Amino acid sequence: MAQQFDVVVVGAGPGGYIAAIRAAQLGFKVACIEKWRAPSGELALGGTCLNVGCIPSKALLASSEEFEKVSHHLDTHGISVKGASIDVPKMISRKDAIVTKMTKGIEFLFRKNKITWLKGHGRFVSKTDAGIMLAVDTDKASEEVIATNVIIATGSKARHLPGIKVDNKIICDNEGALMLDKTPAKLGVIGAGVIGLELGSVWRRLGADVTVLEALPTFLGACDEALSKEAFKLFSAQGLKFHLGVKIGEVKTSAKGVSISYQDKDGKAQKLEVDRLIVSVGRVPNTENLALEKIGLSIDERGFIPVDAHCKTSVAGVYAIGDVVRGPMLAHKAEDEGVLVAEIIAGQKPHIDYNCIPWVIYTSPEIAWVGKTEAQLKAEGISYKSGQFPFAANGRALGMDRAEGFVKVLADAKTDEILGVHIISSAASDLIAEAAVAMEFKASSEDIGRICHPHPSMSEVMREAALAADKRALNM
Ligand code: FAD
Ligand code: NAI
Repeated sequence: MAQQFDVVVVGAGPGGYIAAIRAAQLGFKVACIEKWRAPSGELALGGTCLNVGCIPSKALLASSEEFEKVSHHLDTHGISVKGASIDVPKMISRKDAIVTKMTKGIEFLFRKNKITWLKGHGRFVSKTDAGIMLAVDTDKASEEVIATNVIIATGSKARHLPGIKVDNKIICDNEGALMLDKTPAKLGVIGAGVIGLELGSVWRRLGADVTVLEALPTFLGACDEALSKEAFKLFSAQGLKFHLGVKIGEVKTSAKGVSISYQDKDGKAQKLEVDRLIVSVGRVPNTENLALEKIGLSIDERGFIPVDAHCKTSVAGVYAIGDVVRGPMLAHKAEDEGVLVAEIIAGQKPHIDYNCIPWVIYTSPEIAWVGKTEAQLKAEGISYKSGQFPFAANGRALGMDRAEGFVKVLADAKTDEILGVHIISSAASDLIAEAAVAMEFKASSEDIGRICHPHPSMSEVMREAALAADKRALNM
């Protein structure tokens, strides 16, 4: 007889595993189907985020930042270090150890919360009176389970370009880019998006000559223009070479590396020869062999599973969350949707304000924002005021040699409600949390300006930018 569960989650990335934990906390009998295999061959929980995304990329970013600091940035403190070197395999092992620690941590959380891990590939079988039937396939067998509620959290995978074969050795997507065995002398990156900038920065800091080819004529178009302009200037000064508005042509691999033919922004034929190539041109939702049609579900024209604001699909009792549905492809968005759905199943009335989901790009300096950009406010005809304050006028930032960047606060011209906060700074990923809290509580820029911030701290720049929105910054 098929095992029966109140909730079956398909996928144990940050959306799925958090949904499973919250559902278990709420008293449901929960199972989670997951098939991910680590390079060791062992099955692993955690999805893209823990295995080949957020966690490993941030580990490498941290290692490469330390290397760059020791190699180039201690001089101003009067510290001289000669002969710093990087052991790439050791750096990669450190990253792998962090991944294993984190993914094993989820196994512990599953045991603690009495969540059954069904190891294998999940697919829908049918919708019956008893519930929704799913099959869990392994190489050797197939097991059927019945669920009263199903949460689809199957995530996303790297988008590849036609004619460019990713082998994750010479031509890499995010998976190969996180495990190069040595620093390539020349690295090509197709796509100046989040992955291209983060991983391009890692390998540049370790000594690679990095060239980024981007199809769009604009740089980081999703960001507020002030941030993207500043980022372009700073990253170019660090040595990343950008070619915007290109059209990629033939890509050939040889024993020497990769040769990329492309048309530049003026339509002229160009060629880039590199040792390794990272293709980071976005991600696509993952619904492969899920057999959605067996329960009457289909995907939209972009491959996403259609859901409403509460992550409900068109089939009663079936929800979808995270990268496989609309909205930003971010781990914390997936997590919040996981909690939301578990609570909805329990009869609660949770809500997500998608406008208050922060973004962080973990470059150096980091780029972070929440809410609307100036361009969006203009397009929506909302009158606003803007306050900006540089870290160069902050004593703590100067003391730490982290004076690059600024905070920009956008507030409603009439009500003063904060509509957007945009930060470029080494502290952006932490500072943006204050902005997200402020926006969730519908704070005004005056609220931030009146709240006592510790001195000396990077957070004072947030307060000064809020005061600047009312033209009364104190230290400028
Ligand atoms: P996923 O994490 O993709 O997990 C889906 C899981 O479902 C996988 O484990 C998969 O094996 C499993 N699965 C799929 N189909 C089936 C099936 N049929 N049966 C069983 N199991 C199945 N986001 C951030 O917020 N911050 C970051 O710093 C960040 N860095 C990133 C860096 C990189 C290099 C990449 C690639 C992504 C990064 N992201 C980051 C994005 C983040 O990883 C995703 O938004 C997040 O993982 C989405 O979570 P998810 O649960 O929806 O899906
Ligand atoms: P992306 O969408 O951020 O950037 C892709 C870039 O590739 C865009 O600038 C796009 O214009 C360009 N592009 C597309 N087709 C192209 C082509 N044919 N030739 C040249 N350029 C082309 O996608 P990316 O970097 O792959 O990351 C995927 C997603 O993963 C992100 O959007 C984000 O949701 C998530 N992510 C989040 C991180 C974070 O939160 N810090 C870190 C890394 C990934």
